[in-house]
Amino acid sequence: MRWPKGLDGLCYGGDHNPEQWPPEVWTEDVALMRRARVNLVTVGVFAWSRLEPQPGRYDFDWLDRVLDLLHTGGIRVALATPTASPPPWFSLRHPDALPVTADGVRLQHGSRDTYCVSAPAYRRAAGEITAALAARYADHPALALWHVHNEYGTTCHCDHATEAFRRWLRTRYGGLDALNDAWTTSFWSQHYSDWAQIRTPVATRYLGNPAQLLDFRRFGSDELLGAYLAQRDLLRAATPDVPVTTNFVLGGWVPVDHARWSTELDLVAIDHYPTEAGPGAEEQTAFAADLARGWARHSPGGPGWLLMETAPNLILTPGRMHGKEPGRLLRHSLSYVARGSRGAMFFQWRASRGGAELFHSALLPHAGPRSRGFRETVELGETLDRLAEVDVGTVSTSVAVVRDAGSWWALQASVLPSAEVDHADEVAAVYRALWRAGLGCDVVEPGDDLSGYALVVLPMLYLVDDGYAARLRDYLASGGHLLVSYLSGVADEYGRIRLGGHPGALRDLLGIRVDEFQPLDPATRLSLSDGGTGRLWSEPVELAGATAVTTYTDGRLAGGPAVTRHAYGAGVAWYVSTRLDDDTYRRLAADVARAAGVTPTCPVAPDGVEAVRRRSADGRSWLFLLNHTDTAQTLPVAGLDLLTGGYVDPVTLPAGGCAVLRQS
Ligand code: GLA
Repeated sequence: MRWPKGLDGLCYGGDHNPEQWPPEVWTEDVALMRRARVNLVTVGVFAWSRLEPQPGRYDFDWLDRVLDLLHTGGIRVALATPTASPPPWFSLRHPDALPVTADGVRLQHGSRDTYCVSAPAYRRAAGEITAALAARYADHPALALWHVHNEYGTTCHCDHATEAFRRWLRTRYGGLDALNDAWTTSFWSQHYSDWAQIRTPVATRYLGNPAQLLDFRRFGSDELLGAYLAQRDLLRAATPDVPVTTNFVLGGWVPVDHARWSTELDLVAIDHYPTEAGPGAEEQTAFAADLARGWARHSPGGPGWLLMETAPNLILTPGRMHGKEPGRLLRHSLSYVARGSRGAMFFQWRASRGGAELFHSALLPHAGPRSRGFRETVELGETLDRLAEVDVGTVSTSVAVVRDAGSWWALQASVLPSAEVDHADEVAAVYRALWRAGLGCDVVEPGDDLSGYALVVLPMLYLVDDGYAARLRDYLASGGHLLVSYLSGVADEYGRIRLGGHPGALRDLLGIRVDEFQPLDPATRLSLSDGGTGRLWSEPVELAGATAVTTYTDGRLAGGPAVTRHAYGAGVAWYVSTRLDDDTYRRLAADVARAAGVTPTCPVAPDGVEAVRRRSADGRSWLFLLNHTDTAQTLPVAGLDLLTGGYVDPVTLPAGGCAVLRQS
């Protein structure tokens, strides 16, 4: 495993932006970092204009001093390449490297991420600054990790991007006949007779071609990966022993297939910012951590991964910033660590006094060290120190939730029967159901091996190719349990509808047939025979071997199956034809898990107490217990609580408090 040089135990720190401050602040920073037990900081992410103030003229003196100071203070550095924010001189010199939106508007500098990764001038400049940094700091003793770029995720429609898209399509399809067939260009006279006719999916008079959009996302992922690899290879050549990573951003707009990228990363790192201020933040945190854990299994640096950024004291919801209540920072940090993060890193170390993110929270707030925020920063550093031993533990579960970038992208096309349904949203709904039922799960990709799982969940897995359908049949035949939700298996890998009734590829294994969809308007609720409700979507499900578990009791489908169960081979396949309300989904998840022989991580944990277990190869195990409720909770479990250093039996968790029990 390649792991940051010189780092033992868990990482703690965040983005350090000394370029925003005068040198006397740098010294204070190091002193305060030491007080907080910070051991790793990301430096230079957005410092391109300071590092290369004029084309080809570098100024590394200030960065030398910063790295020396950090090294003297015993703090390791994740040195970033600054390529996510080219300097103004670059944009003025190379207007053709500025990105173009789908509407044909060329964006100008003044923010960040304003470049096209396909533009030769951008790639050249990014390579030059990367090579210069690598040459300068290859032997610097503070260098622990390379942090390439920041949150790859841009798209562009300029001529360079269009050319690159055409090249990518030629490789994918070989010839135009295959492309025309896959894109169904016979519709609306779109047949292409020359590669030069093909464009990125720019603004069109009316609906665009969904297959073109899907391929553009896939291309985007590969194109950005190419930009990452170009930098990664330069850094590797200069410092073969220093691991290289980039920080993944999680968002619907991001054309990145993170599982595929992870095979190229020495360490999977994610940035995660919950978007709900209420209890949803805890579920989102757990989900993001399990996602990263799944990607890390593809990485040569796995199974560990790293939370590279989150906000210390802030949850951003549309239009409002919510401060985190006391204790929430610790609970969230432990939720990531419990699920395999090799530490907790934050954006950012010191709050900026100006610039676009001047109100973003930081480990060191504007108020300075005499603040509630900084006290929690110090407490978190002490806590992570006490937890160092858990780093050898891994998480294993017998439930897998399949998430698929392709299905997500395909369902983002604006031509579907309902704009209200979304793959990521459905994955989140089923994850929530499992989380609330206390069931740990892995989040996996369609390519992943399913044989170790007692239960596999396919939430709205829209694209299913023949090979995957065959693998699912084998999984079921050998005794697996499958829970499938609506809009799964409907289309092939090109997004073309499978004929003969839905859910196309999965009809036989589910023992059902659906001949039409009946999406619901967002306010409609359909009652179900078990007292639950369905919303957003419904289907007239015809039984073809399956039995009805629950039925619709009102609306056009009254009396028809809503949830079904089908014995297939030695296994069982369940189907859910509507979006169940959260309680009903949770009950169903618990029932299906029980039938599959899966038990909760900590069966005695009450509602609102999250439990995750890490185990080491030498037989130790650590039970993380996070009390998200506002009352104290006592659980009949025993162990040495690493947070207090005392043996407990039973354990009492204060309101909003945590325990990490070492149990042999
Ligand atoms: C991202 C970026 C950071 C910062 C934060 C703000 O994660 O990587 O530079 O903009 O968001 O939340």
